[in-house]
Amino acid sequence: MKVLVIGGGGREHAIAWKIAQSPKVQMVFVAPGNGGTAMDKRLKNVAITDLAALADFAQAERIGLTVVGPEGPLAAGVVDLFRARGLRVFGPSKAAAQLESSKAFSKDFMRRHGIPTAAHETFSDAAAAHAYVDQTGAPIVIKADGLAAGKGVVVAETLVQAHRAVDWMLGGNSGVAHNACGARVVIEEFLVGEEASFIVIADGKTVLPLATSQDHKRLLDGDAGPNTGGMGAYSPAPVVTPNVHAKVMHEIIQPTLAGMAKDGIPYTGFLYAGLMIDAEGNPKALEFNCRMGDPETQPIMMRLKSDLLEVMTHAADGTLDQIELQWDRRYALGVVMAAHGYPERPRKADVVSGLPPTLPGSEPESAEAMVFHAGTTQLSKALVTSGGRVLCVTALGESAKAAQARAYETLATIRFDGMQFRRDIGHRAIKR
Ligand code: AMP
Ligand code: GLY
Repeated sequence: MKVLVIGGGGREHAIAWKIAQSPKVQMVFVAPGNGGTAMDKRLKNVAITDLAALADFAQAERIGLTVVGPEGPLAAGVVDLFRARGLRVFGPSKAAAQLESSKAFSKDFMRRHGIPTAAHETFSDAAAAHAYVDQTGAPIVIKADGLAAGKGVVVAETLVQAHRAVDWMLGGNSGVAHNACGARVVIEEFLVGEEASFIVIADGKTVLPLATSQDHKRLLDGDAGPNTGGMGAYSPAPVVTPNVHAKVMHEIIQPTLAGMAKDGIPYTGFLYAGLMIDAEGNPKALEFNCRMGDPETQPIMMRLKSDLLEVMTHAADGTLDQIELQWDRRYALGVVMAAHGYPERPRKADVVSGLPPTLPGSEPESAEAMVFHAGTTQLSKALVTSGGRVLCVTALGESAKAAQARAYETLATIRFDGMQFRRDIGHRAIKR
């Protein structure tokens, strides 16, 4: 079967790398892909991002399955478009993707279906929003409605910060796409606890949890500095004990899928619940994403033993009940290497050197360390940076500590000007 993976980040490199290991696969196209997918002989980059052009390509190439990585094309309706053309695709419809693309939709959905989450109110009127902030007090969380690539959330520690965030988001200056009814903010209760990423695969009826994971959203060691898309991740997440896992499935995941079906928007695709788990082990949903996490996907794919193409084909066909997922019992841990100036103004065109000789694709089935690419491009013979998060160096190990050691060992020879990476990825898992 020919497969098309839409996207060009580290998540898509990891998904394409894993799908290419299937004995059923004939070719994996990645659109647009990156320098890493260009270097892997089993993958082929296609320079298309326009959705209609992607559907034309899938039709012309007789693609048997299209997998959509990022939220942008999902929120723009790529799945609806492919389905209307009779093309098999894995991902949520545009309506279902609102669980991520609209904070107001997702918070109202959670309230309606009794899914534990932070108390919240939605506002488009600035005066009402300011009054609510004053009435509730700080700390308090202000979120722009709409996709904002991780930049639409302000965790305000003081009232001054909270008021400033409201003005910024409702003033139309936030750079966040405003929908037809104008700018909206969701203001919510500040939750305390430990975060974890809980990702499941759903076919509209059956849901299978993937291995648990945690990421590191802050730029600097010790979880300091600005928020980023994620500076590293590992799997499993020790905070998700069997008891917490059962609660998440029972109180968050199953009611979400049942609620979507009941509302007439059955959910197919990956669903990522960002959780806050309190000291008593009670989980609340901070947010939903309608896709896998980046960089969580990289360690999760290192641990997946099942044939991903088979899993996704069943998911797209609504027969996930016939599948069981097999996992490597070891830990996997990935360290993101980011460009100079990330996350504010990442610099491009720095030459990347010193990649370990076992390049992606050499021995994928037994790889204990992998360099997944994100913001890289091949420029004649050189590999150069082309985005904020450049690489995610991911390794397996018997413990979180061993996986961490192997990841940093693998990373040690890699160089590019201005590179930034954290030295403490996995600290929560190692402490336990
Ligand atoms: P989100 O994009 O909704 O995941 O928010 C980004 C980050 O902001 C989360 O990973 C949390 O660290 C933090 N955050 C979001 N909502 C809350 C909340 N209600 N309480 C505490 N922290 C939050
Ligand atoms: N790593 C966080 C995310 O993918 O949203």
